[in-house]
Amino acid sequence: MELSEIDQINLSAADLKSIAVLTGAGISAESGIPTFRGKEGLWKQFRPEELATPQAFFHDPKLVWDWYFYRRNLIAQAEPNAGHFALVELEKMLRESFTLITQNVDGLHRQAGSSNPIELHGNIFVNRCHECASHFSDDEIDFSEMPPLCPACRGPVRPGVVWFGENLNPIHLEDAFAKSHQATLFLSIGTSTVVHPAASLPEIARRGDAKIIEINPDSTPISHAADYTIRDSSANALPPLIEKIRSIFAVD
Ligand code: OAD
Repeated sequence: MELSEIDQINLSAADLKSIAVLTGAGISAESGIPTFRGKEGLWKQFRPEELATPQAFFHDPKLVWDWYFYRRNLIAQAEPNAGHFALVELEKMLRESFTLITQNVDGLHRQAGSSNPIELHGNIFVNRCHECASHFSDDEIDFSEMPPLCPACRGPVRPGVVWFGENLNPIHLEDAFAKSHQATLFLSIGTSTVVHPAASLPEIARRGDAKIIEINPDSTPISHAADYTIRDSSANALPPLIEKIRSIFAVD
């Protein structure tokens, strides 16, 4: 009998001392949310690098808001999948020794029950003033004008996410770097690992001596540095992987 990729993973209790997980759009693919760089990820022929920028927003705020409305709509109808739920189980097992870092803005990790994901790129349902940084609910914003104007300072209101060319929240970033460096095991799940700084987290974990497991149907720039690669979807691969981790944890 051939061993599955998960059977071949060799972990000890020491590897489970501190686990950091990085997720990307792939973990939400099976919830019906298109990835950014997959074939189905293109929206009206635009690439994310062309739309997710302050320049695009100021050039054509309606186009950018339309893209975000389209994605909000998809996300509002989506439910977390088995991959998200498996990570909730992992958090329950490890508690403070577990860190979840996501590039996703869809909020599905929280919806599944993850208590404190580091949302590096923000949350798509937040409306934020580009000038004064105040946050507003949808009811407080008049979306009939484009860009909508901030009720407090009349600055342009934009989605509360991080765009290309913008800095990530430094507190989130520092936390993500520190937890990746401390990790004894690092899981890179459903991310193309091409957008920095998130894409450098597996490398930081590697330098800190973590074992790296990648879950992705396709290879990525970090595949060569991974100790194990699972070429499957996250909804298929995560539940048995977490059960394997549980069996090692229980023996300890
Ligand atoms: P991408 O769309 O770049 O990559 C998604 C990855 O998920 C690819 O490597 C796929 O092979 C993989 N994938 C697809 N289906 C999967 C499944 N069912 N299970 C597991 N993996 C699967 O998305 P990200 O890496 O998240 O940033 O993109 C990073 C950032 O680029 C995003 O946060 C966003 C984007 O532009 C900003 O908007 C700033």
